[in-house]
Amino acid sequence: MKKIPDIKENDVTPEAVYKQRRQLLAGMGFGLAGASLPLSGHAGVFDGLFGKDETASTQAPRKPLEYKQDKSRHGLSLTPENKVLSHNNFYEFGTAKTDPQQNAQGLKLEPWTVEVGGEVNKPGTVDVSELLQSATLVERIYRMRCVEAWSMVIPWVGIELGAFLKQFEPTSKAKYVAFQTLYDPEQMPGQRSRFVGGGINYPYVEGLRIDEAMHPLSLLAVGLYGKTLAPQNGAPLRLVVPWKYGFKGIKSIVKISLVEKQPPATWNLLAPQEYGFYANVNPAVDHPRWSQASERIIDNSSVFEAKRKATLPFNGYADQVAELYSGMDLKKYY
Ligand code: MTE
Repeated sequence: MKKIPDIKENDVTPEAVYKQRRQLLAGMGFGLAGASLPLSGHAGVFDGLFGKDETASTQAPRKPLEYKQDKSRHGLSLTPENKVLSHNNFYEFGTAKTDPQQNAQGLKLEPWTVEVGGEVNKPGTVDVSELLQSATLVERIYRMRCVEAWSMVIPWVGIELGAFLKQFEPTSKAKYVAFQTLYDPEQMPGQRSRFVGGGINYPYVEGLRIDEAMHPLSLLAVGLYGKTLAPQNGAPLRLVVPWKYGFKGIKSIVKISLVEKQPPATWNLLAPQEYGFYANVNPAVDHPRWSQASERIIDNSSVFEAKRKATLPFNGYADQVAELYSGMDLKKYY
């Protein structure tokens, strides 16, 4: 059988035409306010087919970090750094996998503050550059499983979320933690146009139950591969919850609130029948439009030669986290 060639969008569309089309679409702004369907929901098995797979020429500088190494590699092989930097979901910068790397480099990262409040005794504002100086950073090599059925293994650097939150002294009313991404349409083209931004109502928001947030695996990441985060990965600060689908890992956080009631979560709001609040990785519960039983490993192969592996319950972290959900019907609380 003839091997299918590795077709990239820039092989089939002349570069100038491709750029022109994108500028045109962005310029039109496509005011589709009121449309109830996501304009480009998660791409499922077809993601990556049309992405350009090249490194953007100008990359925002990333500073080296000092951190405690994750000595055990957990038998995992790391996803090449260039793939972690070029295959992204960050709809504020466009919906194609290569858009964030192309469009996010100008994101202003300093000064950057995170407001922490709600049900806490000591609300406060954290300056991320001060946090980088004062906090003890740890490396965590985690599997990352996107709801679109692709996966990576990423060496994150960050702070345990639980330790971070404890400084603000959550009260007994703090049952959930709500997170919010920067809202700045001037910097984020996807927030200016429903077409570019995939139909999401911004700002992007996410939430965790308090016991999930306090679990030692939950991380506030400030870096990867030993350096500060690239803008496309959610600089300067993003959430990483390795047993949940990647969309829970909200990027470029500016606000964290401890709250009494379950907070809104972007994908759950957009398509509740497809994306639950919990979003625990579960090979036994398919997405309505594709199977979650296996995943495509992102490495340097083309999508046509991709290696697949069986998806593990809780993304391989069941021993550590399954007890958080004991007695819950995971088909109902997906
Ligand atoms: N956070 C914001 N603010 N906007 C987004 O579009 N995409 C999510 C998540 N966090 C997203 C976000 C999705 S769907 C995934 S899979 C991960 O980020 C991707 O993280 P990565 O690009 O660093 O691999």
